[in-house]
Amino acid sequence: MADFNSIYESKKKSAPEALKLIRNGDAVMTALGAAEPMELLKNIHNIADYGTKGVDITNCLPMYEYDFIANAKPDIITNSAWFFSGAQRKAAKAGNMHISYVPQHLHGAGLRRMYAMREDGRRMVLLASCSPMDEHGFLSLSLSATYERLLVDDGATIIVEVNSQMPRTFGDVTIHISEIDALVETDYAPPQLPHVPSTENDEKIAAYVAERIENGSTIQLGIGGIPNALANGLKNHRHLGIHTEMLTDNMVDLVLCGAVDNSQKTLYKHKTIGTFAMGSQKLYDFINNNPSVMLKNGSWVNDPAVIGQNHKMQSINTTLEIDLFGQCASESIGPMQFSGSGGQVDTAVGAQRTKGGHSFICLYSTAMVKNAQGERGMISKIAPMLKPGAVVTLSRNDVDYVVTEYGIVNLRGRSLKERAERLISIAHPDFKDELKFHVKKHPEIY
Ligand code: COA
Repeated sequence: MADFNSIYESKKKSAPEALKLIRNGDAVMTALGAAEPMELLKNIHNIADYGTKGVDITNCLPMYEYDFIANAKPDIITNSAWFFSGAQRKAAKAGNMHISYVPQHLHGAGLRRMYAMREDGRRMVLLASCSPMDEHGFLSLSLSATYERLLVDDGATIIVEVNSQMPRTFGDVTIHISEIDALVETDYAPPQLPHVPSTENDEKIAAYVAERIENGSTIQLGIGGIPNALANGLKNHRHLGIHTEMLTDNMVDLVLCGAVDNSQKTLYKHKTIGTFAMGSQKLYDFINNNPSVMLKNGSWVNDPAVIGQNHKMQSINTTLEIDLFGQCASESIGPMQFSGSGGQVDTAVGAQRTKGGHSFICLYSTAMVKNAQGERGMISKIAPMLKPGAVVTLSRNDVDYVVTEYGIVNLRGRSLKERAERLISIAHPDFKDELKFHVKKHPEIY
């Protein structure tokens, strides 16, 4: 039997040494969200000291304001992001031209970026985190299977942190020591998401959704106050299943209270399926060494054709603004990128392909925003028209249920006139007259 420990030892390096494997013009992809290798990323801007330049880093939902994001050195490192987090919003707003968003659905993410970079003749490098090696020489890519394994299979240069605190997970996360080019040993807790307490409005919205979810359904939930409230509202349901993009704390609660047993799933019965995990230590402890949880490639988990094979699939997501046609601007405020498409379209479209399946788009009826004079005021998130330049994430053709704290309406199969009426019925009372006036003034549109 091969001596995997010797192979492991031969690949061990310090972070600066490992980063020297990155060459001029490389296309680096980092593991997603909480799976990102923080020690390597906190040091990567130092490649400038070795004379390396022209490197592009593609990442998704970075959990920290790394120097390479905050401080522009465009000739050294550019940052292409397919889901903005706060650090990137801040840098983009400050006019850092080295940051740019990559439009794509989650199910195509990774692959499409990889092919685009290859088309430009760039060498691919993956920076990822792993749990420690087992006696057979295998490590786990731990908290994300979204695209990381695809890069290993495609022959990218693989540099990993072996972090003693990363959970060992199952699915498309297994990597052998022979596939790794360099490793850096680290020991820190994976980044955690703070708990978002639910508000009264979250609970109202969640109640409208929960009463439409039947026992035995398969669910996908996003993050934030509304999904947390919904998870609470589903605690008395039975035989629910999980097939989701992101595994979160609230899914652990649903398993532990007996609402989720995955017994009626049509795909991977008895397994909780996700493509990445992000939450608190409670989630990371739950998935560690847990064979009932599988992290699978995002290109499979989020493929609408795959989602559409599930039993009574229910997709629950949120949006920033919706117009009276039902177009959802979920990732930008006007033209400014706020987050990303993620899997919103994948899951909404996939869910509607299943018998008894639905997509729910949830939003508060209003938001508090600053006007040009810097004063904060209330606006309606249900608007006659989206803000100029806003990006439509979910098209009007694909929207199904829309929910605010004032009610729930179904737009599927409804005319423009019916949609406008229904959306106005769940708008904040202070804005209803304005919205009705717009429709009355423009009969040619509706
Ligand atoms: N006009 C202007 N600003 C608005 C607005 C509107 N219509 N709606 C919200 N905002 C502002 C809020 O005031 C808030 O600003 P603040 O940060 O200064 O307080 C900010 O935008 C965020 O709004 P919020 O409602 O708190 O959004 P969120 O943090 O809950 O994120 C999405 C919601 C839509 C951005 C997020 O769910 C997303 O990215 N969705 C698309 C991807 C997806 O659905 N993936 C699948 C699930 S994982």
